[in-house]
Amino acid sequence: MKDKICLNRRQFLLTGGTAIILSTLPGIATPISLEKKDYPKKKIATLSLLKQDEPVNFQYPPEAHPELCSNFIVKLGEIAGGGVGSHQDIVAFNYFCTHMGGPLQGQYKKEHKAIGPCPFHLTTFDLTRHGMVIAGHATESLPQIVLEVEGNDIYATGVMGLIYGHHTNR
Ligand code: FES
Repeated sequence: MKDKICLNRRQFLLTGGTAIILSTLPGIATPISLEKKDYPKKKIATLSLLKQDEPVNFQYPPEAHPELCSNFIVKLGEIAGGGVGSHQDIVAFNYFCTHMGGPLQGQYKKEHKAIGPCPFHLTTFDLTRHGMVIAGHATESLPQIVLEVEGNDIYATGVMGLIYGHHTNR
């Protein structure tokens, strides 16, 4: 029995955990899975210290390719897929573009709740919709860090999607 299912765009946007998207080339629909990978739980921020639209950097997961495991957490001020906190507006993502690894530090756009354009080929990612591509060359969403809140502490527990430079997320 197959253990993967295909979701349409709307279903994907409404689904947490393991998400599956369809990559559509002309005449071809190829399922691409954005697998959630659990990593050791790590405190990455303090809830009461986050300020809206001010990204805070952190490293996660702790193993393998540490130079590519640079991430940010941001309070968007509006509900977001995978968002935590009382307003479900706190999200975290990896900083490296899924196209060719362009660095996205400093590219957060508070007016659009997006990050980009990537300095290499101009991809921009929507942070309210699991890091989906808004425009540009990338075809895969920005890897989203899975978050948990316990009291005033925010923890990273896993990654949804493949961090650039990694061959597998399993
Ligand atoms: S590396 Fe970011 S768009 Fe190409």
